[in-house]
Amino acid sequence: MQKVCGIKLETASAEEFLAAGAVDALADPIAKVAADLEARRGPGHEFLGWLGLPASVTEAEFIRLDEAADRARADSQDVVVVGIGGSYLGARAVLDALGTAEGCPRIHFAGTGLCTSSLRQVLKNIDGRDFRICVISKSGTTLEPAVSFRILRNLLEERYGREGASARITAVTDQTRGALRQQADQAGWDTYVIPDNVGGRFSVLTPVGLWPLAVAGVDVRALVTGAATMAEACRASGLRDNPAHLYAATRSALYSRGFTTEVQATFHSGLATLGEWWKQLFGESEGKDGKGIFPASTVYTTDLHSLGQYLQDGMRNLLETFVVVREDDPAITVPADPGGGADGLDYLVGRRLDDINWRAYEGTRNAHAAGGVPCLTLALDRLDAAAMGAMIDLFEKAVAVSGRLLGVNPFDQPGVETYKLEMFRLLGKPGA
Ligand code: PA5
Repeated sequence: MQKVCGIKLETASAEEFLAAGAVDALADPIAKVAADLEARRGPGHEFLGWLGLPASVTEAEFIRLDEAADRARADSQDVVVVGIGGSYLGARAVLDALGTAEGCPRIHFAGTGLCTSSLRQVLKNIDGRDFRICVISKSGTTLEPAVSFRILRNLLEERYGREGASARITAVTDQTRGALRQQADQAGWDTYVIPDNVGGRFSVLTPVGLWPLAVAGVDVRALVTGAATMAEACRASGLRDNPAHLYAATRSALYSRGFTTEVQATFHSGLATLGEWWKQLFGESEGKDGKGIFPASTVYTTDLHSLGQYLQDGMRNLLETFVVVREDDPAITVPADPGGGADGLDYLVGRRLDDINWRAYEGTRNAHAAGGVPCLTLALDRLDAAAMGAMIDLFEKAVAVSGRLLGVNPFDQPGVETYKLEMFRLLGKPGA
């Protein structure tokens, strides 16, 4: 398979666990599913707007984002992004991978849960500093962001007065529905629309992801171009030329053989949150009707010293997808030991830390495969905005295909309502 945006998918060491031809046998069913998706047919067809996203973000939208970023840079040292699930994970994944650019406001995330300590930390971080809020909620009614937003908005109004605060709030929400839309229209906040036909976990290439990333100085044009390049590659008709289809086929074939947990593993700490975003994407899309691969994620080598034992030797229902990038930092090498080599590391003197990390990846993959774990690898030449955009598109396309193959609707999430009903009853919400 050709590289796309410097990304190559390798499946050989996973396919060793399958009968010859098992992956290719899925080419026809996948082609049918892909044709249905392209024609906007089948379960959840009303939520397929994300399919056209990378190609449809306009220059006018980018310019509006540039202007928002300039305003935030001019008046704020910090921006608090309030949202949960699909309303923050994509932006956070990209930001954790690429970092905030020099001179841009620091981005904090709030409303990602109900933990007091976590909100207190955000409040501490912005104490005495100029800040803005970007509140993101498609439904406009989700409890976690709504509670945090109310607290932060009060703080903003205390600091800047009602009018001053209104000029510092951006709301990303539905065009017409929901409490957030109503509040935004009443107060005259700057708003961006989440299209009706794009579900939360598929929304990173809408203002849900693009606003925070633009404000953080991420090259959002490159991000979207990377996604569009991958989208083009994922139109290829040959299974082995199509990264999303090959990934979906390999994991689906493994699932039929009893591999029911997939671990996304990285050796780059900046990619830890990509694992969080991916877990939501795959968990919410596939985990229904008693079916679906359970998605988990690890960051190595840290987790080799905790979960490594299980991966090597535990229940053999695991498959592992490595997302790896060969870092390029010649400056950090193992120095000579002032203690005369008593630490036993002299065989590494002069070796680059990034090279040692790469050997750790190769060694882990070989060991896990030998221990009975089918291993796939997404190898990145470099970690940049285009590569992140490309991975977003690849995983979205793959889960749409594999969910449909599984016979579930990959675009709904009825199961997430159950805890809410019980929580609202306990909290005494009117009508609950
Ligand atoms: O994928 C989803 O739709 C959910 O995880 C939502 O993203 C999450 O619940 C947040 O919803 P909302 O944006 O409506 O506040």
